Amino acid sequence: MPLLGSKIETQRELYLHQLGAALTMENTILGMLPQLEEHARNAQLQQALRRHRDETEEHVRNLERVFAVLGDQPDDSPCPAIEGLEKEGQSTLKMVDDSLNDDVILSGVCETEYHEVAVYEGLIVKAAAMGEQGVVGLLHENLKSEQETLQQAMQMSQQLAQRETLAV
Ligand SMILES: [Fe+2]
Ligand SMILES: [Fe+2]
Repeated sequence: MPLLGSKIETQRELYLHQLGAALTMENTILGMLPQLEEHARNAQLQQALRRHRDETEEHVRNLERVFAVLGDQPDDSPCPAIEGLEKEGQSTLKMVDDSLNDDVILSGVCETEYHEVAVYEGLIVKAAAMGEQGVVGLLHENLKSEQETLQQAMQMSQQLAQRETLAV
């Protein structure tokens, strides 16, 4: 991380800053998932959130490994994007009747996973361009896991919407 008041001047420093923001993103999600699990009503959704918490712990470890491969210390750059998604989810949960919690949670999960996919795709393109194949491999593991979670959340969201449409 550059010294206080100094600017990031190299692509490598910028990359480390972006990796640090990804690490903050994953740690923030790790804090969010148990709260979402508490609010979730459907057992299948609770189980999926619990599983993704374990996967997110692995995402954190993979990012720490990436820092090690690059010979740098893990960085805690801020990630305002994930804070925004967290705030939106929390405020919407307060607004709705409990019967709509799963709907709110699944929408938030889809948006979060899309964001994570975008973050990892961007980091992978740059790592590949830098010739850092070890970094590409680790980040690709995270990307694959986020893509699977996204597909699963979209499917659950669709099933929920269909069930509600049928019930009307
Ligand atoms: Fe993740
Ligand atoms: Fe995720």
